[in-house]
Amino acid sequence: MSGKITVSLIKADVGSYPGHVRVHEDLLEKARSELKEYENNGDIIDFKVFNAGDDLELLISHHKGMDSKEIHEIAWNVFEKATEIAKDLKLYGAGQDLLSDAFSGNIRGMGPGVAEMEFTERGAEPLVAFMMDKTEPGAFNLPIFRMFADPFNTAGLIIDPSLHAGFVFEIWDILENKRVFMKTPEETYSLLALIGAKSRFVIKRVFPKDGGKLPPDEPVAVVSTEKLYQIAGEYVGKDDPVALVRAQSGLPALGEVLEPFAFPHLVSGWMRGSHNGPLMPVPFKYSQCTRFDGPPRVIAAGFQIAYGKLVGPVDLFDDPAFDQVRAKASEIAEYMRRHGPFEPHRLPMEDMEYTTLPKVLEGLKSRFENIVDIR
Ligand code: F6R
Ligand code: MG
Ligand code: MG
Repeated sequence: MSGKITVSLIKADVGSYPGHVRVHEDLLEKARSELKEYENNGDIIDFKVFNAGDDLELLISHHKGMDSKEIHEIAWNVFEKATEIAKDLKLYGAGQDLLSDAFSGNIRGMGPGVAEMEFTERGAEPLVAFMMDKTEPGAFNLPIFRMFADPFNTAGLIIDPSLHAGFVFEIWDILENKRVFMKTPEETYSLLALIGAKSRFVIKRVFPKDGGKLPPDEPVAVVSTEKLYQIAGEYVGKDDPVALVRAQSGLPALGEVLEPFAFPHLVSGWMRGSHNGPLMPVPFKYSQCTRFDGPPRVIAAGFQIAYGKLVGPVDLFDDPAFDQVRAKASEIAEYMRRHGPFEPHRLPMEDMEYTTLPKVLEGLKSRFENIVDIR
């Protein structure tokens, strides 16, 4: 137990309806009642349950620190209980993200996605939980970069002396399993050279720099980076990512944290995890992927943290100020759809490697003739 608090956002697709559209209310209810017991027993401080499309999202605050076996086991147990209901209701893909029969100490690598951070709670601590469906961890690269490093997004980088020094980005190479720390603004171009390749290099965490208002070893943003296909060895759904971002007083203001989502940037995922499409910011009630199993969506739940309690949520994209973005996203969705099976709507071949496409191409292999021989 430590004096700091930890916020863990843990998610899994354990069944949805119809098809991959959304989580059933009975699963959300079950997750709430289970977590309530853990709260009553003093195992956790507080919790909230959401759905991002077909993903069941558990937001938990506690004193147990990062990678706590106890907290991860709680989440695993909740997902298992929800799976039982999903099976009874014959929901689609019941239990699909629980890739192991039994919990083995840490939920990472077992299917669910995790974003968690431990930090000293400030006098007032605003926190945003972002939850995406039908896309991959790299979908956060552009918005997180803009929040913490783009002065055209975050006025505070220019105006506020406490942001002026910039931030430190922890970047993961998720193919080579390596990481690198890079500073902005001084290494901005090199950073962008990496994170522009969003299917490989992903922003894992952001830290304040030394000598500022906030402790440099406590993260101010964190993204889940689990790649399901790498864990399972084959395509078992997309890696629908989540992120936690702290705001204000030496960090981007709440509005600067939301501002990057005013641009519906292209992300990969959507239908069969195989297509590029716009990311649409939506209120909770529209967190259900319908058109062509999409388009990919993001919700944002805003909180103040009070002694570990999660005061909220405020449904941050439930605002007419984002109507234009949604209209633009629909327009882009329509434009992209007109390409049908053609790239760049469909993902490039290397990204299709883990989908069901190679199985189709396998059947054609024996029919290929060598062009040199027939010239
Ligand atoms: C994308 C997604 C869906 C499914 C699609 C096919 O992340 O979950 O688009 O890939 O509905 O699903 P299956 O293969 O289960 O019929
Ligand atoms: Mg699903
Ligand atoms: Mg999903």
